[in-house]
Amino acid sequence: KKIVILISGRGSNMEAIVRACEVQRWPARIVAVIASRADAKGLLFARAQGIATVAVEAKNYPERESFEAALVAALDSFTPDLIVLAGFMRVLTAPFIERYENRILNIHPSLLPSFRGLNTHQRALDAGIKVHGATVHFVNAQLDGGPIIAQSVVPVLADDDEATLSARVLASEHILYPRVVRWFIEDRLTLNATRVALTPPEP
Ligand code: GRF
Repeated sequence: KKIVILISGRGSNMEAIVRACEVQRWPARIVAVIASRADAKGLLFARAQGIATVAVEAKNYPERESFEAALVAALDSFTPDLIVLAGFMRVLTAPFIERYENRILNIHPSLLPSFRGLNTHQRALDAGIKVHGATVHFVNAQLDGGPIIAQSVVPVLADDDEATLSARVLASEHILYPRVVRWFIEDRLTLNATRVALTPPEP
C-alpha cells in the first residue's frame, strides 16, 4: 500500500511512522511527504531517507480552494491508499475529505472529544485534569471530530508545565501513531458510523 504523509513542521510523528514501516517491514511504502511550508523541518529527514518530498506552500494560495487544488494534484500524482496527517496545520474542506473518504488519519494531542483545536496541553493544565494524551482518528468534515481509532493516556504531574506535558504526550504519540497506521495497512479497521472496530491479528 502507498502512504503519503502530510506535515507542516517538525515531523517527529512522520519520522516515527517512516522508521516503523522500515523496521517492521510493513507491506507498505511511504511514497511521499508533502508539507504546507517549504521550511518544514521534517522535509530534511524525509529527503535523507530518499522519500519524495513536495512543498505545497499554503502562503502562496490566497484561497483555501486553490491551495487544496494544488494539494490534490500533488497527492494524486502518488495515488495514495492512505493519507496520514502528522502535524499538518491546515484545516481541510469537506470536498477534499470526501475525495479521500475513510482514507485520511490524523493525530490530535488530547484525549478527544476533550480539547479540540489548538493549545491542548496548556488548556489541559488549566483544567486541572489528571490524565491527558493523544487520539488517532479518521478525518471527517468535523474538525477533530472524526471517528476515534485509538488513544494514548499519560499522567498529568503536579509540577508539569506545557513543555514537560507536551513532551510526555509526544513520546506516547510516537508509539500510538505507527501502531494505528499499521492496523490500517493490515485492513484491520472497520468503520461503523461513528465507531471503529479493530480486528485481531492473523494467527
Ligand atoms: C503533534 O503533537 C500532533 O499531535 C499535532 O501536532 C504535533 C506534530 O508534531 N497534531 P510533529 O510535527 O509530528 O513532531
